[in-house]
Amino acid sequence: MTGTTSNTMWGGRFAEGPDAIMEAINASIGFDKRLYAQDIQGSLAHAEMLAATGIISDSDSRAIREGLVTVLSELDAGNFTFSTALEDIHMNVEARLKEVVGEPAGRLHTARSRNDQVATDFRLWVRDQADAAIAGLEALQRALLAQAEAGADWVMPGFTHLQTAQPVTWGHHMMAYVEMFGRDVGRFRDARARLNESPLGAAALAGTSFPIDREMTARALGFDAPCANSLDAVSDRDFALEFLAAASITAVHLSRLSEELVIWSSAQFRFVTMSDRFSTGSSIMPQKKNPDAAELLRAKIGRILGAMVALFTVMKGLPLAYSKDMQEDKEQVFDAADTLMLGLAAMEGMISDLSANRDALEAAASAGFSTATDLADWLVRALGLPFREAHHVTGALVKRAEERKVDLPELTLAEMQAVHPGITQEVFDVLGVHNSVSSRTSYGGTAPAQVRAQIARWKERLG
Ligand code: ARG
Repeated sequence: MTGTTSNTMWGGRFAEGPDAIMEAINASIGFDKRLYAQDIQGSLAHAEMLAATGIISDSDSRAIREGLVTVLSELDAGNFTFSTALEDIHMNVEARLKEVVGEPAGRLHTARSRNDQVATDFRLWVRDQADAAIAGLEALQRALLAQAEAGADWVMPGFTHLQTAQPVTWGHHMMAYVEMFGRDVGRFRDARARLNESPLGAAALAGTSFPIDREMTARALGFDAPCANSLDAVSDRDFALEFLAAASITAVHLSRLSEELVIWSSAQFRFVTMSDRFSTGSSIMPQKKNPDAAELLRAKIGRILGAMVALFTVMKGLPLAYSKDMQEDKEQVFDAADTLMLGLAAMEGMISDLSANRDALEAAASAGFSTATDLADWLVRALGLPFREAHHVTGALVKRAEERKVDLPELTLAEMQAVHPGITQEVFDVLGVHNSVSSRTSYGGTAPAQVRAQIARWKERLG
């Protein structure tokens, strides 16, 4: 019963156990059980080091190791009984270890504190998530590359202000997202490289008087080095903040792409058809096919941004070193990571399944006088007009086409010459959306040749 017996792990100076409300606010086992594998991995490395440095005996270390392996298998199998009174995953594991191996279990916590333990466990967990995010992003990039390759020369409207601006290619639009998600991969890689130092051995905050070998535990856990300052090691959560920041930027990119899918799949646009696998129907309107996955993704992004703000808020007022506030780091990161992985997988599925409607894209590309800039550029190039004057002449031609309800290439030469007598038949070579996109051969431009070069570069990079 709570409130009667003091905690067996730290209750030496306590006469009474905690109030039930205290236990509820204090316990983290409900969520930090997700760190069990990392917790045991850290303990295995620590026990081995304690024996190697002669701090505990080989036989105690062996007993601890065998016990931890047993506890791990219980946890893996889902037949471990968690106790709220034991607060968190660290004490739950240690208490069970004591039941399994007896007295040697009590030696595991030598030269260690839960402060460096949790910092270590959480870094290991976040490191795995950074790797998973990178893998998810690269899978999504591959799906986008396949779309780009299929439609490298399909024309579609390019927009500014969501108003038709100039024709671009479908491949070019897809490759814009490949670039974005490529930067996201870079951010997770950077964050991972910076987080890869081991807090283990910082102990509570000041280090320890035992002759521990921090290099050894760092190596065993795949860290590049031990953290160089014990106060920093236990109080730093930059790795979690960086993960959330990188996740937030990725989330914004996923949301923007989701928004495009919602717009593009509407009856007004018909640019794309989403697969049945990633759509839902309406219970009352039989004709409907809704892009729910894209909408949900667009909405779920708020959880990731919220987690980032929440953890920044937790950290901003904390003096060194550890404060219990920091226990609030986990749920935010867990939820953000889960949302991110689900979002990446959903987007990869939607993009892989997506069919772009080539004809609708092309029809829309020609609408809205989208080659007006090409006409103005031609007037500058062929007739030597100053751009401002060319802009004015083009405006007059657009007005004429609008009055006649035709597109620019359908104006006659005579009509054009009525606006500017210098215009010749050659002008028709630059009008029309295919001419327009093919002419945009500047580096990074929308010409199919440029787009194909970028596709080849990314295919090589992604292997
Ligand atoms: N459950 C705690 C956390 O997540 C572990 C560290 C507890 N340390 C302490 N000094 N009470 O932060």
